[in-house]
Amino acid sequence: MGWGGVNGSEQQQQQHGSRILITCLIVVGATVALGIGFHHFGVGVGGFFPSIIIKKKKRRPVRVYMDGCFDMMHYGHCNALRQARALGDQLVVGVVSDAEITANKGPPVTPLHERIIMVSAVKWVDEVIPDAPYAITEEFMKKLFNECDIDYIIHGDDPCLLPDGTDAYALAKKAGRYKQIKRTEGVSSTDIVGRMLLCVRDRSVSGNQTHASLQRQFSHGHSQKIEDGGSSSGTRVSHFLPTSRRIVQFSNGKGPGPQARIVYIDGAFDLFHAGHVEILRLARGLGDFLLVGIHTDQTVSAHRGAHRPIMNLHERSLSVLACRYVDEVIIGAPWEVSKDMITTFNISMVVHGTVAEDNDYQMEKCNPYAVPTDMGIYRLLESPLDITTTTIIKRIVSNHEAYQKRNEKKAESERRYYEGRTYVSGD
Ligand SMILES: *[C@@H]1O[C@H](CO)[C@@H](O)[C@H](O)[C@H]1NC(C)=O
Ligand SMILES: *[C@@H]1O[C@H](CO)[C@@H](O)[C@H](O)[C@H]1NC(C)=O
Repeated sequence: MGWGGVNGSEQQQQQHGSRILITCLIVVGATVALGIGFHHFGVGVGGFFPSIIIKKKKRRPVRVYMDGCFDMMHYGHCNALRQARALGDQLVVGVVSDAEITANKGPPVTPLHERIIMVSAVKWVDEVIPDAPYAITEEFMKKLFNECDIDYIIHGDDPCLLPDGTDAYALAKKAGRYKQIKRTEGVSSTDIVGRMLLCVRDRSVSGNQTHASLQRQFSHGHSQKIEDGGSSSGTRVSHFLPTSRRIVQFSNGKGPGPQARIVYIDGAFDLFHAGHVEILRLARGLGDFLLVGIHTDQTVSAHRGAHRPIMNLHERSLSVLACRYVDEVIIGAPWEVSKDMITTFNISMVVHGTVAEDNDYQMEKCNPYAVPTDMGIYRLLESPLDITTTTIIKRIVSNHEAYQKRNEKKAESERRYYEGRTYVSGD
């Protein structure tokens, strides 16, 4: 099933760099470009397609398929989709239905329609199949090859076994139509769930041993700084090591055109969700270039409490950058939108959604949007979805028991993965 209009700006998005990262552009940009050039070369000489298609002059695009639950989608998922897209020309993504997830591992936190909004908004995704099976079947695989024109099935470097213990991708491997990508280091849904539960626990039951057990349970056995009773950053354990290259890979690398109307929106964008995607889509529609300001961890903590944000600034930046409606981000934007900022970035409109966690700012003495309001360029947008970061955290907590059981199993297998992992080339 196609999601029309989704691939309109793909060309732009394959370019590299970012206005913010000018200094690292030259070296890193060259590396990425080489990678892409090599890929096209490889496909060109492959001679994979039968002669009927050659008549059409233009080479038939290579279509790759990847599936997943994409529950509590994070930049690790986005990076996997980016890697998958680089192995072909069009990426088709299968999203597992709520019923299939429930039957296999308990109810998802994010309902299917939200997961589809999230996946469709990732700039490397061309099409979405909204009812993929949880474990890939031979029948479904044949449907992919014969009806959906899929050339390759892509999966991460973690084993994927069917209930009978056999390799789920055996058929595709045998047919030479399987390709593997490297799992994104440093992030997993289990880890994020752990961070969320810790943030809730810390507020309600301080000094309780629950901290320690959750910490052990969700953080792959790394237990630094948990003894401090949950003072701000101590509870957040992330394996994520931000590199400039990853940011460049996620960036569009294109500034606004000379006549572009630049729209600015800012926020924490913590636990990037469908509500964020939808407001970004609206905001992008109001101009030609969407600049997104992402507040620093300190700013977010100061306004929403010491246990926020759940995801750090770099993680939040990657999630926002992966969104197709976003042209550029400011990594660490100020709380107040100043005259200087508006001039520097030639911002023609500043927007904010009606659904946000800190709309109490309007009652505060210093409204961060006072300057754009005075200039007559501030606009409040009706948020399409009633979801905030708190909504997501509440969903997790209300399903806590189910998740605890599910995560005990998962954390164990992830621990084994981290212990047993060896270097896999690729990025
Ligand atoms: C810690 O919390 C758990 C459940 O949240 C409770 O059963 C237990 O009694 C608490 N222990 C202490 C020492 O407060
Ligand atoms: C600034 O933005 C306006 C649109 O709001 C545009 O017409 C103008 O050309 C831009 N200026 C520069 C220097 O890009």
